[in-house]
Amino acid sequence: MDSPVGGARIVPVVVLQDAASAHPLADALVAGGIRCAEITLRTAAGLDAIDALRDRQDIVVGAGTILSPEQVDDVVDAGARFAVSPGFDPRVLERCLARGIPLVPGVATATEIQQALGRGLRHLKLFPAKQIGGLDAIRAFAGPFPDACFMPSGGVSPANASDYLAHAAVFAVSGSWMVPSDALEAGDFTRIEELSRRAVAAL
Ligand code: 3PG
Repeated sequence: MDSPVGGARIVPVVVLQDAASAHPLADALVAGGIRCAEITLRTAAGLDAIDALRDRQDIVVGAGTILSPEQVDDVVDAGARFAVSPGFDPRVLERCLARGIPLVPGVATATEIQQALGRGLRHLKLFPAKQIGGLDAIRAFAGPFPDACFMPSGGVSPANASDYLAHAAVFAVSGSWMVPSDALEAGDFTRIEELSRRAVAAL
C-alpha cells in the first residue's frame, strides 16, 4: 500500500515549544530507530521546526494539526512531506491536492470514513482512537470499509501499539508517548531516544 508517511509504522506526534530543538529531536528519534515525525502546528515553533528539518534525508517530516487551507500552504512552503488533520475538512483536502502533498485526515465515524473514501483518500487517522473504541472500532469499520487503512492516534501506547499494528487495516500508529512534553522542555533527548528505542522494540 502507498504510504503517505514514507512507510513508517510509528509516527511520533510532536509539540515543540522551541524550533531550536528540531535537530536534536530528529537526531534522538533516528538514533532510537524512528524515521518519521508529525510536527504539529499547535505551537508557533512548529512551522519553523518543519522548515529547519526540510533537508534531512534520514527522517520523513510531516505537519500535524492542519486546520485550514492557509496552513497547507505554510507547511508545503516549509518543506513538509505529508499533512495530518484531526478531522476531515474538504477545503484542506482541496489545497493539499493543489499543492501536491499527501493528506491523512482524521476520522471518527462511519460517515467521515465514507466521505474520505469518496474523495479518493484511503489512509486515515483514526482519532481519538482510544476514546472511540480502539481496536474494536477498527474491526467494526474494516467490515464495511475494506479499502480504508487506519493510523490510530490518541491513547496509543507501548502496551497496545503492536496489537493495533497486527490488524491488516492499520498502516501505522501515532502518538506522543515517545516525545513527552516534559522531556522536550528539559531538552532530555537521551530520554526521547530511549523511549523511541523501546517503542520500536515493542513492535
Ligand atoms: C494527537 O494528535 O494529539 C494524537 O492523537 C496524540 O495522542 P496521544 O497524546 O494520546 O498519544
